[in-house]
Amino acid sequence: MFKPRVYVSRQIFPDALDLIEKTAEIELWPHDEPPSPEQLKEALSDVDAAIINVMDRIDGPLLDAAPKLKVLSQVAVGLDNIDIPEATRREILVGYTPGVLAKSTADLAFALLLAVARRVVESDKWVRDGNWKISHHPMFWLGSEVNGSTLGVVGLGGIGIETAKRALGFDMKVLYHSRTRKRDVEKEFGFKYESFKRVLAESDFISLHVPLTPETHGFIGEKQLRSMKKSAILINLSRGPVVDTEALYNSLTKGWIAGAGLDVFDPEPVPPNHPILGLDNVVVLPHIGSASSGSRREMHLLAARNLIAGLKGERLEECANPEVYETLGI
Ligand code: DGY
Repeated sequence: MFKPRVYVSRQIFPDALDLIEKTAEIELWPHDEPPSPEQLKEALSDVDAAIINVMDRIDGPLLDAAPKLKVLSQVAVGLDNIDIPEATRREILVGYTPGVLAKSTADLAFALLLAVARRVVESDKWVRDGNWKISHHPMFWLGSEVNGSTLGVVGLGGIGIETAKRALGFDMKVLYHSRTRKRDVEKEFGFKYESFKRVLAESDFISLHVPLTPETHGFIGEKQLRSMKKSAILINLSRGPVVDTEALYNSLTKGWIAGAGLDVFDPEPVPPNHPILGLDNVVVLPHIGSASSGSRREMHLLAARNLIAGLKGERLEECANPEVYETLGI
C-alpha cells in the first residue's frame, strides 16, 4: 500500500515516531546538530510532510524546492522560523504546539525569576569555589524581595497567563500588557491591564512572552530599559531578538536595571566569550523553556497528530494558517 513520505528533522519521542509510522514512511535526521539549509532543502524536496523544529528556516525558495509538501508540523509554539504567508500561498498546512508547553515554560520563568532575585546561581558558584567560610552572615547574599512585589507580564498568551498565575502564589501583584486585552482572565485572576509604558515603569519583575515578529524585534531597547525601575529584573523566555542585546548589556553594567534571567539570546547559542556571561546579575539558560520530559513528549505527540491529520486531509488540532482549510475544502 502506498504510504506518504515524512521527514523528521530532529529526534523525537519514540511513541510520536510510532504514531507517524502507522501512516507514513519516515526519514529521520539522526544527528544532534540540525540539518544545514542545503540538507533541509534536499530532504524536503521529495516528501509529503515534515516534522520541523525552531532551528529549521522555512522560506519561499525552500518551499519552491518541495513541490509535494502538504503539511509542515512545527514542534514549538513560536513560528518565527517559518514564512507562514509563503506556506499558505502554496496551500501547505502549518501545525504547531501551543498549550502543552505553557505550564512547563511558566515554571521555568519562575525558576529564572527566583534564581536572579535570590542570587541562586551566583551563590552556588561561590560555595563551589570554596568561599563559604562563615556559617551564617546577617548581611551576606541579600537579594530582592519576591513576595509582595509586582510582576509585569508582556504578552498574555498561554505562557504569559501561566506565569502570571504562578505569581499569585507569591502574593505578587500582576500587571500585564498584551496586544489583546483579556478581560475574562483579568476578572478570574485579578490581573491588571496597563499600557506597555506603565508595565515597564511600575514592575519589579518584567517577564516577556511575546512572539518574535517584525513589530517585536528589538521591542526592549535602551529607551525601555531606562524606563524600568533600577531594581527591576528582566526575564526573557520569548525569543532573543525581542531584546536588544547591547542595550541589555549596558543596562546591566550601568545600573539601569538590577538583573536579567534569559532563556533565549541574540545570537543563539550565546558565544562562550560574550561579555554578558561575565556578569553576576544575569542567569543564562540554553533555550530550555519547554524542556520538561512531559511537555516535550506532549509536544512531539501533538506535532505527530497534526501531521497525520494533514496527511489524511483533515483539520489539524493546532493550525497556524487555518485559512488553507478553505482552499483545500476541509
Ligand atoms: C517554542 O515552543 O517556541 C520554544 O521556544 C521551543 O521549544
